[in-house]
Amino acid sequence: MSSTDLPEEAHLTPSALGTKAHWDSLYALEITNHSSNPSDIGTVWFSDSDCESRIYQYLTSDSLSLPPSTTFLDVGTGNGHLLFSLLEDGDFEGDGMVGVDYSEGSVELAKKIAEQTPNAEGVKFLQLDIIKSSPDLEFFGTRVSEEGGFDIILDKGTFDAISLSDEVLDDGSGRRIYEIYPEKVAKWLKPEEGIMLITSCNWTEEELVKKMTVEVSGLERMGRIKYPEFTFGGKKGSTVCTVAFRKKV
Ligand SMILES: C[S@@+](CC[C@H](N)C(=O)[O-])C[C@H]1O[C@@H](n2cnc3c(N)ncnc32)[C@H](O)[C@@H]1O
Repeated sequence: MSSTDLPEEAHLTPSALGTKAHWDSLYALEITNHSSNPSDIGTVWFSDSDCESRIYQYLTSDSLSLPPSTTFLDVGTGNGHLLFSLLEDGDFEGDGMVGVDYSEGSVELAKKIAEQTPNAEGVKFLQLDIIKSSPDLEFFGTRVSEEGGFDIILDKGTFDAISLSDEVLDDGSGRRIYEIYPEKVAKWLKPEEGIMLITSCNWTEEELVKKMTVEVSGLERMGRIKYPEFTFGGKKGSTVCTVAFRKKV
């Protein structure tokens, strides 16, 4: 389907994955599992698509040449594994990294895993509902606020989860809550050179671009990460897509 024949009102069918109760109970279970077996870090989303190493390769490519001091915000961080995977080869420093999640259990689990992860002592994990709260940059720390935003914002499966919520905004517009995600998150991105990388299995690349590049977000498509493609019913596709956005100049 091309972006031009995507109906404006195309929403995902709501499911339990769009509720905080689902994530709270998942992380309660994952904390219990981790306590009895510290090598059990819980779910790493899209690991079957090798997603995290593809994101790492993209971010460490010569064309971007990001310095070790690059700042990262991981929205809907879960167990924080995406940030930890970026620390592994020493290209980036942990004290520029912040993971946020609306589930208190996620923050607790990520902090526990950070304690056993090399070089992760500087990584910050904070509880934040990215749709219902809109803190200023000071919330994330002085460095990010002084520099005018994050260099990189990461989302792996979080826009997907929010798109599965049946909640509507209380402004009388009837819009589903995921529809304000782009403007909410883009405001934390550095206006110049900031990159937002969104990974989804629920939206196609074209749909994701259409949802994110709405006027109020000020975002434009910058590029994509390649995944192996398959052909089904005469159409080409991949199970996961990662699209890079930046602020329009
Ligand atoms: C599919 S999981 C992905 C977790 C992690 N990014 C990963 O790749 O493993 C979606 C995450 O989004 C979080 N989430 C959902 N809605 C949120 C919101 N409004 N604000 C912050 N986090 C949210 C959930 O708690 C969950 O941790």
